[in-house]
Amino acid sequence: MSLIKQHEKIEKNVLLLTLGIFLTIIIGGIVEIVPLFSIQNTIEKVDGVRPYSPLELQGRNIYIREGCYNCHSQMIRPFRDEVERYGHYSLAAESKYDHPFQWGSKRTGPDLARVGGKYSNEWHTRHMIDPRSVVPESIMPGYPHLIETPLEYDDMADHLRTLRIVGVPYTDDQIENAVAHLEAQANGDLDAVTEAYPKAVGGDLDGNPDMITEMDALVAYLQMLGTLVDFSEFDAGEANAYR
Ligand code: HEC
Repeated sequence: MSLIKQHEKIEKNVLLLTLGIFLTIIIGGIVEIVPLFSIQNTIEKVDGVRPYSPLELQGRNIYIREGCYNCHSQMIRPFRDEVERYGHYSLAAESKYDHPFQWGSKRTGPDLARVGGKYSNEWHTRHMIDPRSVVPESIMPGYPHLIETPLEYDDMADHLRTLRIVGVPYTDDQIENAVAHLEAQANGDLDAVTEAYPKAVGGDLDGNPDMITEMDALVAYLQMLGTLVDFSEFDAGEANAYR
């Protein structure tokens, strides 16, 4: 009762109320703003993270277009159950070239942040065409049209150029060779690609060597997810207790 009485005093006195509001905003402001001063320290310096290769980038666009993020997250949280299931927890640096990021919060299907290398290219293609042919109990929809649709990539260089404007460090050479790199990766001429994009996975990804399809791009993207950082070399100090 007395607390309400006291509050009545504040509410009836303009000066007290203004002071109260002011104090509340100051405290709230400090709590929100101060952590931002150290934001640079929260992005670890790790080796290996590079911009997406043109083929991977096309795959990422298809991933976004098809709404895969509605069922899949791409962020492994630093909790034991997640780390044991999916692998090392995600680092901020791993998604620093993502525009927009695909962290997500909905997991109807599993997290995909480290799905790269977990399955063969053939498995991914079959799974995308008809998920139940490889995982009988799956409720994931099939995407059979991807293997019939030729990939459009004439504007690949513009795409890299646009990403450079928002801070992705594509070099002039990478922009100039965007189409050549994409075709080399899809056709399995990997030496030409891995120099510019280490660890790129290529070759005939969808089992159809006659055509570069949207499936090729999506599989190239899925196969590189979470593979860039070498975690045997990475030391996050204290936080590594979760590993
Ligand atoms: C309606 C929800 C839903 C959508 C949309 C969806 N998925 Fe899935 N996905 C699942 C479920 C459930 C599983 C687990 C069963 C299985 O493996 O099929 C899964 C599994 C997967 C796996 C295997 C993961 C693993 O570690 O075993 C991959 C890869 C995958 N999805 C990729 C995609 C891609 C790419 C898209 C968009 C083209 C997509 N999914 C769209 C629900 C979905």
